[in-house]
Amino acid sequence: MNITGNKILITGGATGIGLGLTERFIQEGNTVIICGRRESVLKEVTDKYPSVISKVCDLSVEADRLALYDWVADNHSDLNVLVNNAGIQQWMAITDPDFFERAQVEITTNVIAPIHLTSLFINLKSLTTVINVTSGLSFVPLTKAPVYSGTKAFFHSFTLSLQYLLKSNNIEVIEMIPPALNTDLGGKGLHDSAPPVSAFIEAVFQQMKEGKTELTFGFSEMMAKASQEDLKQAFNRLNPVQVP
Ligand SMILES: NC(=O)c1ccc[n+]([C@@H]2O[C@H](COP(=O)([O-])OP(=O)(O)OC[C@H]3O[C@@H](n4cnc5c(N)ncnc54)[C@H](OP(=O)(O)O)[C@@H]3O)[C@@H](O)[C@H]2O)c1
Repeated sequence: MNITGNKILITGGATGIGLGLTERFIQEGNTVIICGRRESVLKEVTDKYPSVISKVCDLSVEADRLALYDWVADNHSDLNVLVNNAGIQQWMAITDPDFFERAQVEITTNVIAPIHLTSLFINLKSLTTVINVTSGLSFVPLTKAPVYSGTKAFFHSFTLSLQYLLKSNNIEVIEMIPPALNTDLGGKGLHDSAPPVSAFIEAVFQQMKEGKTELTFGFSEMMAKASQEDLKQAFNRLNPVQVP
C-alpha cells in the first residue's frame, strides 16, 4: 500500500488502535474519516485534528451501515481505503444469564458489520485497499472472551479469502494483527499492562512501507508463525487450568 495521499475511512477511529492509525495516517499526508457511536469522543478528535471528518454511526445496526455507505458514496466517492477496525471484547461465561444476547451483539459488531461494510465499499470505483484488524487471539482463544476469540478467528479466515477473491478487482487486502495493547478494549483497566499502541503503530507502518500484507507485532507475530505445538502451549499459558 502506498501510505500517502489516500482518503481513508477508519471505523472506531477515535480511540485506541483506531486513534493511533488516524494520527499516523494524518501525519503521512492522508485524509481521514472516522466513525463511532459516541459523538463526544469523535468531537474530541475533530477538535484536535480539524482535517479529520467524522460520522456518528452504530455499526451493529444494519440501517446505520447502509447510511454510512450512502453518505460516503454521496460525499466522498474518492474514498480509496476502508479500515475495518471497530470491535468490542466481552469477558463472559457461557453460564451467564445474558450470555446469548451479548454474544449476538459481539458477533454483529465484530463479524457481520465488517463483512457487510466490505461488501458495500467494494462498489466504490475508487477503492484500492481494505485493512482488516484481527487479533493474536485469531490463532489461539482466550477462553475468558470465548465469543470475541471466535469472531477474530472468523475475521482472520475471511480476510485470507478476501485477499484471494479481491485480487481480480485490484483491491489489496491487508490483515493488521494486534497483540494485547493498552487500550480501553473490554473496559477500562483490562489492558493496562499491555504494550502501548504507539509501538504497534510504528511497527505496522514500517511493515506497510515494505509492502507487507500481514502486519504483526510481538505476541501476534509469534502466533501467526506458530506450530501446532506452539499454539497448544500458548493456549495453556493464556488459559491456566482451574483448580476446582
Ligand atoms: N487492544 C487490544 O489488546 C487489541 C488486540 C487485538 C485486536 N484488537 C482489535 O483492535 C480493534 C480496536 O480496538 P481497541 O483496542 O482500539 O479498543 P477501543 O479503544 O475500545 O476501540 C474500539 C472502537 O470501536 C468503536 N466501536 C465499537 N462498537 C462500535 C459500533 N457498534 N459501531 C461503531 N463503532 C463501534 C468504538 O467507538 P464507540 O464506542 O464510540 O462506538 C471504539 O472507537 C478492535 O477490533 C479490537 O478487537 C485490540
